[in-house]
Amino acid sequence: MAQDTRLVEALSFDDVVLVPSLSPVEPWQVDITSKASRNVRVNVPLLSAPMDTVSEWRLAVALALLGGVGVIHRNMPVEEQRRHVERVKSHPVVELADVAVYEGEECCRVREAMRSLGLRQLPIVDSAEAVKGYVEFVDLEACSCGTPVAKLVKPGPVFELGEEGKAVDHVKRGKLDAAAMTLKGRFLGTVSVHEALAVYNPALDEEGRLRVAAAVSPFDAKRAETLDGVADILVSDVAHFHNVNVLDAAKRLVKSLESDFVAGNLGTREGVLDTVSRLEKVDGLRMGIAGGSICTTSGVAGIAAPTLFAVMQARSALEEMGIGLDTIPVIADGGVRGPGDAVKALAAGASAVMTGYMFAGTDEAAAPLVRIGNKLYKPYRGMASRGALEKRYAADRYSRVAKRVEEGIEGLVEYRGRVRRVVLEFAEGLKAGLGYAGASSIPELWRKARFARITSRIGAYTGVVKTSW
Ligand code: XMP
Repeated sequence: MAQDTRLVEALSFDDVVLVPSLSPVEPWQVDITSKASRNVRVNVPLLSAPMDTVSEWRLAVALALLGGVGVIHRNMPVEEQRRHVERVKSHPVVELADVAVYEGEECCRVREAMRSLGLRQLPIVDSAEAVKGYVEFVDLEACSCGTPVAKLVKPGPVFELGEEGKAVDHVKRGKLDAAAMTLKGRFLGTVSVHEALAVYNPALDEEGRLRVAAAVSPFDAKRAETLDGVADILVSDVAHFHNVNVLDAAKRLVKSLESDFVAGNLGTREGVLDTVSRLEKVDGLRMGIAGGSICTTSGVAGIAAPTLFAVMQARSALEEMGIGLDTIPVIADGGVRGPGDAVKALAAGASAVMTGYMFAGTDEAAAPLVRIGNKLYKPYRGMASRGALEKRYAADRYSRVAKRVEEGIEGLVEYRGRVRRVVLEFAEGLKAGLGYAGASSIPELWRKARFARITSRIGAYTGVVKTSW
């Protein structure tokens, strides 16, 4: 009997699990490098969602330093969005700690400070912020209190912006615990052993700068022009890309683009086929409709393309056109709560996942902390929520009011600390997942993964009061 195409099965993350398989490697050997778009490689397959409580330059810098890519939101004038992008591009490609000692500082205080920082050397700067050299902890042990550290200064290498790699190398080889970096001769910060040894895996462009993406509407040619060649990727940011007007606008827009162009959001095989066949340039697909944590589209409009389903649809379309998953990478967008969901999305054919939810509670997310009683939160809102819509139309004359209904909520998420913690835990979870699935890399996962449908969520959460997030 022919299948009734009026009713198809659309699975979402909780409907399936991955089945374990014989593994050739240990989790720590798993390679999770991937692509965010055709020409942009990432060391961690993570993009931040272009949302105004999440993705501005601070988050994009933190994420790129850890190997992912931030997508700067577009709920601001285009000149401002470009400044965010440029700020990421001109940022040092290593995390800098703001630790140095003024040359007039008294040596016993410096000794105590170094003891608590756990560093064997610190740079010494003068009042003009020039680096004079380094003070060694061993030289302070016997110093008589009151002596200025200037008396104990020793020469050492100082690294100008652009030489971050050399500075990290120096620290990694144990030559210095805190290597001074300067900008045009003025102290900028130090590459400390704590940062350099823990993680140093930034996502860099061909010129050695941090990777960054920017959100654009296909209707907003001026925005795209302003950001083209400045951001590595222009990410289409409309709820329904599979719309004739959107496709026509995108067709005009992509013709002259230098940056990679990611089309989206899309939810179906037909949507991908139409997009790839009509547009001269598609360098990635942003898949998933109404699956996000703050989305109300399915309630308001009865429409959804759950992210896992949407990724599978993209994979079918690409296979049909004979295009490799590596050529037009698929980004799974919406509803990713942690690495478990991400492993499922990757197994289905995604090259990377996009999340707002996982980043919204971090220090670097673009919203202020909120305190309720003795708990900390951060605001997180959908870009089609009332608050975001009101701001958008005031700030951006290029945006179009196509719909007069809210499709997102405004809420709070628990505070999570630094992005770094979230990304490192995420990466470990991914490696564990790939390890169980018997894959040593994401392309191997695409080939080997086997899903099983489940009838209810597994894992015992009911009745357990969570005391950690
Ligand atoms: P998460 O699950 O990370 O999802 O919160 C982020 C994605 O949700 C989409 N998005 C929206 N979808 N109404 C929607 O239906 C909205 O107001 C809205 N705002 C964001 C978007 O794809 C984002 O990347």
